Amino acid sequence: MKFVLASQNKHKLVEMQAILSAHGVEVVLQSDLGLRVDVEETGETFAENALLKARAVMAASGLPAIADDSGVCVDALNGAPGVYSARYGGPELDDTGRYRLLLENMRGAGSRAAHFTSAIACVFPNGDVIEAQGECPGTIAFAPQGDGGFGYDPVFFLPQLRKTYAQLTPEEKAAVSHRGKALEIFDGKLRTYLEGTGK
Ligand code: IMP
Repeated sequence: MKFVLASQNKHKLVEMQAILSAHGVEVVLQSDLGLRVDVEETGETFAENALLKARAVMAASGLPAIADDSGVCVDALNGAPGVYSARYGGPELDDTGRYRLLLENMRGAGSRAAHFTSAIACVFPNGDVIEAQGECPGTIAFAPQGDGGFGYDPVFFLPQLRKTYAQLTPEEKAAVSHRGKALEIFDGKLRTYLEGTGK
């Protein structure tokens, strides 16, 4: 069975493919199908945005579509960047610019507590929906460390491992990350769903 990922993010593709291949599910990017569906993320929550993206890509492709909406929420910034993580600081910033801005905005903060959230939504052509969410608590580091991963990984510090996300191997990250946890829950729900539909 083929699922389309409602994202251009190859890192997300790799993290999802690793888990879903166990179901005989192949995950492809929209671009592999010659599609480019740009969905405005107008939802107020990660879950709403994931559903918006999955619905739009399912409608355009006619295939089951899976979307992840994720971001980092910082206590001292009242939950920012949150659902705006990808757009933090405006369109001219890249990943490095965004995490530098976050470090700047954290100067003098009393708490560095934060968490990452991932909401996953999968929409099937018959309208069925599977949703799952995962969180990973951590802190915002004082300076970037590590060169793995993507996005805010170099500044998201896991006190129990004494490493940032960017210092973990993909397997180590999947074992503790927000997306790893969301995918594990999604994995269980998909198994039950596929057994029920006899696929
Ligand atoms: P989305 O693609 O709209 O869900 O945007 C997600 C935003 O959060 C992007 O800016 C990513 O860089 C960031 N993000 C999501 N997941 C991760 C992660 O696992 N590590 C680092 N940054 C992430």
